[in-house]
Amino acid sequence: NSDELNDLVSKIKQNLGDELFIPGHHYQKEEVMKFADARGDSLQLAQLSANTTAKYIVFCGVHFMAETADILSSDHQSVYLPDLRAGCSMADMADIKQTEVAWDELTSKFGDTILPMTYVNSTAAIKSFVGQNGGTTVTSSNAKRVMEWAFTQKERLLFLPDQHLGRNTAYNLGIPLDQMAVWNPITETLIYEGDLQNIKVILWKGHCSVHENFTEHNIKQVRNEHPDMSVIVHPECRREVVALSDYNGSTKYIIDTIENAPSGTKWAIGTEMNLVKRLIKEHPDKQIISLNPHMCPCLTMNRIDLAHLAWSLDSIEQGNPVNQIKVNEEVSYYSKLALDRMLSL
Ligand code: 13P
Ligand code: SF4
Repeated sequence: NSDELNDLVSKIKQNLGDELFIPGHHYQKEEVMKFADARGDSLQLAQLSANTTAKYIVFCGVHFMAETADILSSDHQSVYLPDLRAGCSMADMADIKQTEVAWDELTSKFGDTILPMTYVNSTAAIKSFVGQNGGTTVTSSNAKRVMEWAFTQKERLLFLPDQHLGRNTAYNLGIPLDQMAVWNPITETLIYEGDLQNIKVILWKGHCSVHENFTEHNIKQVRNEHPDMSVIVHPECRREVVALSDYNGSTKYIIDTIENAPSGTKWAIGTEMNLVKRLIKEHPDKQIISLNPHMCPCLTMNRIDLAHLAWSLDSIEQGNPVNQIKVNEEVSYYSKLALDRMLSL
């Protein structure tokens, strides 16, 4: 039962002490998050992974985050994911073969004028491809700065795999929508309006299945029912939704904004359910609701539960660890180039 599992996790944490580090993404559920040694957004978790000296890193997040932790960790460290089914549907929307096909087609159209960049929500193979081709990774909290840098390198960008973060960021930098094209990896076609040579950003046709559930209709409804409520959304939401919102930014930005808001303020939040629930609980002095009244859980993030965490920790303590995430050496080397370029900016 859960009391026994809680006791087991606490006991193993105590026994392993500094040898163990448990990073937790803001979308993790409370039963797991209460055991995290550090909480963070994707960028913070990448930085923490690069700096911890712990021997065992038990990652409470999704597969691509554990891969990133492995890439940035040192040789004596090992990374574990308590449930291997905790993937990310967005990361799965770009595979390396599709990326190579797209790159051949795009470089034949545009020559050597494109820099690839990938949201960290992507497989290590994609990060490695980007690293080999002079590009960088990007997170939702540094997307603008990194994209500005990317334009100092090349005339055009290929942005994988989230079309919405790519479009929202480019739009913030003043690039008009008709200078953005979309690459469809299934039909292997480039969709654009106007003059091909004017295209500045090529967006991969991927999305987050959680953030696509926030709609213009949700915002209109909030405006009607609560005219004094502010709307804050994650930039993985569609362009139209971000345009109608009052604020947008990464999970860290959303948390900081709510924390710094005066008592009595009202907020509709467009991001994953566990984070919205936590903010509601931690800020009883503010009125907080989910922008989509049905709440929006990330099913794969939610696969990391107390039972899997306890199982993973127990296997480490017994000397027979399960679910290690190990990126192969070559992929790791080039992925690290892409990650280091981002972390140095
Ligand atoms: P951030 O924590 O970087 O905002 O990322 C959100 C997300 O969807 C992670 O999967
Ligand atoms: Fe992937 Fe979206 Fe879940 Fe984040 S919230 S892990 S981007 S599916």
